Amino acid sequence: MKVLVTGHLGFIGPSVLRTFKQAGHTVVGLDTGYFRDNLCAGEEFVPPDMEIVKDIRALEPSDFDGVDAVIHMAGLSNDPLGKLNENLTFDINLSSSNRCGDLAKEAGVSRFVFFSSCSLYGVADTSKSVDETAPQAPVTAYAKSKVGTEDHLREIASDEFSPVFLRNATCYGISARPRFDLVLNSLCAYGFYEKEIKILSDGTPWRPMVHIDDVAQAALCAAEAPRAAIHAEAFNIGRDEDNYQIKDMAAIVGKKLPGVSVAVTGETGGDDRSYRVDFTKVSGKLPGFTPKWDVERGADQILDWCRRNDQLSMADVLSYDFIRLKQINKLLEASKLNNDLHWA
Ligand SMILES: NC(=O)c1ccc[n+]([C@@H]2O[C@H](COP(=O)([O-])OP(=O)(O)OC[C@H]3O[C@@H](n4cnc5c(N)ncnc54)[C@H](O)[C@@H]3O)[C@@H](O)[C@H]2O)c1
Repeated sequence: MKVLVTGHLGFIGPSVLRTFKQAGHTVVGLDTGYFRDNLCAGEEFVPPDMEIVKDIRALEPSDFDGVDAVIHMAGLSNDPLGKLNENLTFDINLSSSNRCGDLAKEAGVSRFVFFSSCSLYGVADTSKSVDETAPQAPVTAYAKSKVGTEDHLREIASDEFSPVFLRNATCYGISARPRFDLVLNSLCAYGFYEKEIKILSDGTPWRPMVHIDDVAQAALCAAEAPRAAIHAEAFNIGRDEDNYQIKDMAAIVGKKLPGVSVAVTGETGGDDRSYRVDFTKVSGKLPGFTPKWDVERGADQILDWCRRNDQLSMADVLSYDFIRLKQINKLLEASKLNNDLHWA
């Protein structure tokens, strides 16, 4: 297939590029390049066959020429970024994602894999896990944009156009653009660089966790599956075993770093994003999907990265190179980006 991957120059992008290239597909990457400079030396980056440097707000019909499947990841990709300017979040994540779907359908693209998020379930009763039929209660602009795009794509689904929604859990792992604004990556970095695993909340919130390579595998399965298996279907992406309370993830990391303590600072209190997710559907109904990672192994991978980068400090890891919001703010302060996040 010829596959158009939007947002390929982000955190998950390198895993998606490698996975689709290894499967023999021709890959076109499309990204505006906010994080282009954050490529980490020494990490594998498999380039796409072709690259379109473009903002998704400026997509054109010709971007979809000959494309069989779209993997749509581009956007403001977490709550802190989404809060920067909520109108902009709706413009980029919702309106432009909807238009991306419309243009793909008009161009005859038959498969549209949309990177959604488990955060659309919002606050949940943590005594039970939420499955794909659970009520959606998005709290933030980011999560609301995911609901809106799922709804739009579901409306335009047709015999020739099959959208599929991957509701990804919180990601962890190392790619060519590593991030430390993610809970497991951050716990590992605090443990390694500061010798103290810092939990900013009270440690009790639940998080469903998933490795970026398993997300990429899910995207490949969704793109290759028989139409009937995925047409307008939502799948929670992750594993039942990887629902964790943050304090328990910290304990896993702590065991791997002798002499390192765990500090619960409580500075952000409890939080309103605590939820557990049911992954039964994806394990039985997405053909070929077999997750290969778990939090234990993921922590090993992240700590290995820290060991290979032991010249860094925690301050480096909390800088614009690894924290998305800081990179965007750096580009804004240097007037490289306008307030609407278009390149100046
Ligand atoms: N990382 C997670 O934990 C997680 C969890 C659930 C869902 N997701 C979803 O997966 C997708 C990828 O996430 P990620 O972690 O790789 O994010 P990321 O922020 O690292 O990458 C997003 C990419 O999109 C590009 N982009 C942003 N706005 C754009 C625009 N207007 N035009 C063109 N390109 C633009 C950025 O330059 C960046 O390369 C996102 O849709 C995100 O919402 C991520």
